[in-house]
Order: sequence, then C-alpha cells, then structure tokens
Amino acid sequence: MTTPVLTFFNNKGGVGKTSLVYHLSWMFSGLGKRVVVLDLDPQANLTAAFLDEDDIDSLWEKEKGPNTIYRAVYPLTEVGDIEKVTLRAINRRLYLIPGDVALAGFEEELSSAWPESMGDKNLYRPFRIQTAFWQVAQAAAENVNADLILVDVGPNLGAINRSALIGSDYVVVPLGADLFSLQGLKNLGPTLRSWRGLWKKRLQNWIEPSFELPEGKMQPIGYIVQQYSIRLSRPVKAYDRWVNRVPGTYRQSVLREPFVELKPDEDPNCLATMKHYRSLVPMAQEARKPIFQLTSADGAIGAHAAAVTDAYRDFEILAKRILSAMKT
Ligand SMILES: Nc1ncnc2c1ncn2[C@@H]1O[C@H](COP(=O)(O)OP(=O)(O)O)[C@@H](O)[C@H]1O
Ligand SMILES: [Mg+2]
Repeated sequence: MTTPVLTFFNNKGGVGKTSLVYHLSWMFSGLGKRVVVLDLDPQANLTAAFLDEDDIDSLWEKEKGPNTIYRAVYPLTEVGDIEKVTLRAINRRLYLIPGDVALAGFEEELSSAWPESMGDKNLYRPFRIQTAFWQVAQAAAENVNADLILVDVGPNLGAINRSALIGSDYVVVPLGADLFSLQGLKNLGPTLRSWRGLWKKRLQNWIEPSFELPEGKMQPIGYIVQQYSIRLSRPVKAYDRWVNRVPGTYRQSVLREPFVELKPDEDPNCLATMKHYRSLVPMAQEARKPIFQLTSADGAIGAHAAAVTDAYRDFEILAKRILSAMKT
C-alpha cells in the first residue's frame, strides 16, 4: 500500500503554491486527515512558514543534525542508501519533512540518473536516485500512518521537479491571471505528458524491480486562480481578459481538449479563486499559523475576524473539493 501524493505545480513562481500547501495541509489535518507535507523547493519557503528561524538553524547547521529531505537522500550521492527523515510534528495529524537549501546539490545527481535509468546496466542505483524523494516520503507516511502526502516544489521544469512529479498521483495547478502565467500553463501540459511517457518507458524497461516504484500517474485535478495577482493599479478589465483565457488554455494544454470560452467560475476544472487576504497575510506569518486560525489575540478583530471566518469556509470548501477529486 502506498500513500497518495498530491503536488502543487506550476513552473511560474509567485502564484501561491507554497501558501496553498501550507494552508491546505492545516485544513486537511483539521478535517481529520493525517498529513505528511514535503518541501522540495530548495528555497525552502514552506519550511520557513512552519518553523521559526532558530529551529531551522538547528536543522541545517549541525553536521550530524536531524535529517532534512536533502540529508535523507544525500548518501545516494556516495555509496550509501536512503536514510530515514526526521519528521517535525506540527500538530497531532500534521507532519513536515523539512526542506533544505542544500537540496539544489541533488539536481545533478538526478540529471545523470535519468538516462542511466533507461540503460541495460544495473538499474538499482539510478532508480533509487530517481525515486528517492518518493521513497523517503512513503516511509515517513507509513511511519505516522498518513492518509496523504502534500508536496511543494520550486518554479521550474528541472530534474528535482521531474522526480517530484514522477512520484505524484495528483497535480493541482495554482495560477495567476496574467500573461506569464498563461504562457507557463501552455508548457505545463506537454511537460507533464512527456514526463509521464518517459517514466512509463523506464518502468517497462525494468522488468523485475527490487523495490516499490511510483506509477507516475500525475493526474491533473484542477487549477486555482490567485486573484491577488491583480495589481491594484491595473484596471479590472486586464484581469478579466487574462482570467477568462485560463479555462480554455487549461483544457488545451493540460487535458488536450478543445479551447472553450468560459469564465473560471463556470468551469468545473477551477477548484477555487483565491481572494487577496491583505493584512491577514503578515498577521498570520507573524503568528506562524494559517490565516483561518487567527484570533483576536493575534489582532484579528472586527472586519478582520469576519475575514478569518470567510477564509476558513473558503479553504474548507477547497480542501473538500480536492479530497473528493482524489477520492481519499
Ligand atoms: N491569497 C493570498 N492573498 C494575499 N497574498 C498572498 C495570497 N497567497 C499568497 N500570497 C503571497 O504572495 C506571495 C507568493 O506566494 P507563494 O505562496 O510564496 O507563491 P509560490 O510558492 O508560487 O512562489 C507571498 O508573499 C504570499 O504571502
Ligand atoms: Mg513557493
């Protein structure tokens, strides 16, 4: 039995991936799911959202410190094998696999393992390297009896992300409503199809694998539009112009269906339109908690308190939609 993996992916940065993974992991755990969350972005923004600086410092500084995701896979770059990761308990149902700025150092290892995993030599090591993140996350999930694994990645189409996506059962695409997000979206579908196909070939090539491997399903379950990417100085018309092209572009690029004229709120592939949370964002960062858990003690009073309640409802609806798409 493997634990389903859901990855938030877009090669465009600043579209709200990390913020979504952070908030949804809290919401899923609040809804009774046991969650492991994995930070695969070498920028480690997700880890910084969960842990304070002293804590992160103690993770990264010590020579023989706890195992971040990088330290757990690092032995593969020498003669060793994957190690167990040190999970951080965030609440009684939510666990973080800490990210690591050193993770960028694993990119090269993954790049060279990629062609080797198609060869006719011993396939053990290349496959071990290629699926290292998945192996680590699955072992961690089994350890805490998790129902799902959420993954945050950086904004690129590099080898770390290819490995992350090969280990993903489901993909959610966070988007902004602007030219660059739409261009990114056009690359996204073909990239996912290419990775899926190339992984399938590798699975066929290794007839008797000596350990469990991910299927490389990468099933797209929808997109989330970030409304906050509207610059306040820009007219609403500009936002509408881009946002109304998202449903058709998503269908063409990701689902290979014909372009349709639709608004996101009429589109079943649109999982949510995220509001701009304004001053609740720094308030939540300061309190190191999700926006929807802010209290009057954190400064959420009056209109802010009402916005917190709305945010709770919005994230609850989104989390339930995602769960029903995954059928967990
Ligand atoms: N709904 C939102 N309302 C306001 N600000 C947001 C919202 N979602 C994300 N942000 C902010 O936008 C910036 C980019 O978001 P982030 O989650 O880091 O994107 P990514 O991971 O895609 O680069 C961050 O400063 C974050 O705090
Ligand atoms: Mg991010």
